[in-house]
Amino acid sequence: MITAETVQVNHCSTKVTGGVGFLIKSWPTNPSPQTRPRFMLILGIETSCDETGVALLDDERGLLAHALYSQVEVHADYGGVVPELASRDHVRKLLPLCDQVLADAGKSRADIEGIAYTAGPGLVGALMVGGSVAHALGYALDIPVLGVHHMEGHLLAPMLEDNPPAFPFVALLVSGGHTQLVRVDAIGEYEMLGESVDDAAGEAFDKAAKMLGLDYPGGPRVAALAENGREGRYRFPRPMTDRPGLDFSFSGLKTFTLNTVNAAKEAGEFDEQVKADIALAFEAAVVDTLTIKCRRALEQTGCKRLVIAGGVSANKRLRAGLEKMTAKLGGSVFYARPEFCTDNGAMIAYAGAQRLRKGQKDGERIVAVPRWPMDSLPSVNEPRANGLVD
Ligand code: KG4
Ligand code: ZN
Repeated sequence: MITAETVQVNHCSTKVTGGVGFLIKSWPTNPSPQTRPRFMLILGIETSCDETGVALLDDERGLLAHALYSQVEVHADYGGVVPELASRDHVRKLLPLCDQVLADAGKSRADIEGIAYTAGPGLVGALMVGGSVAHALGYALDIPVLGVHHMEGHLLAPMLEDNPPAFPFVALLVSGGHTQLVRVDAIGEYEMLGESVDDAAGEAFDKAAKMLGLDYPGGPRVAALAENGREGRYRFPRPMTDRPGLDFSFSGLKTFTLNTVNAAKEAGEFDEQVKADIALAFEAAVVDTLTIKCRRALEQTGCKRLVIAGGVSANKRLRAGLEKMTAKLGGSVFYARPEFCTDNGAMIAYAGAQRLRKGQKDGERIVAVPRWPMDSLPSVNEPRANGLVD
């Protein structure tokens, strides 16, 4: 039974209200650990930003069901995610989505054997919703719960596909909040090779979209508009490719885009065709920049396998550019199906399953970490029973 109204988040107290406890009281408890089947059934919960994602993963048979509710319409009028609205919408949608996923998989609450939720990085109020539900459920069912790292979830999403990449590999993580190149030797064994010194690639797409009068999230909309663009009409810079190193910077590209848009407006040329031309020039610049840095990272590490993950990895031009580049190096590129590139519960269930099955789990504290460097994570092989945060 969950009655406590106060939970600890990194030593801060946070009030949790609403019907969470009431719903959980009626849920049956799980079989004891001794009678559990050999393979775990993991519930994955993602609530770090503006998507409520839930999935049920059988550690042996794979993904059984998943569901996603996008808050895009909730935030549409504001041109970006409003944290308080995001938290409230997660509260409304999370438990119904859990029930939907269980029903779709033909399972009951009592079948769940472990719970993985996104503990960070992300919006703290939104994270708290997933963490509260995960811990309340785990307590009621007497099963292990683990707060997982959102970017590790993205990183491992391609493992849900046929022909998953073997370790080691280089990963390009490109989302709304992160642009990182990482050498991955095993789960939790990460060496940060480079990252953005300012805007993330997805953020740059979103800002360019706004300048072009497109709605949030801008990435897919810029990509769609670019389909009608004329090659060579504009040429945008490829930032930080003229010097060694694996870091990125996208803020100069943003300024260049703004200047181009303003010049076109002043010339009275800012019509649909010119917008498409700018979208194409912008997209090509981002893709080229990412491709150049990925090639360098592969050459530097001697790895042949490149994994791309995060929302921007759904971009078709990026996939094509990286396919071409890795083929030339005699390597290959791995990515998830588009719906698992952006935020989802399946990637959280998968990442959590790998660690839960090794005995890693949270203590009694709900973990919500807005900023959390991925290379501070412990290896999957390091025994831990107090969660992944030191
Ligand atoms: O991984 P994600 O769903 O959320 C974060 O963890 O941030 O990534 C969202 C980002 C947004 O900036 C969105 O514009 C971008 O991914 N994105 C794309 C595409 N699909 C999503 N960017 C370029 N092309 C796409 N097809
Ligand atoms: Zn994400």
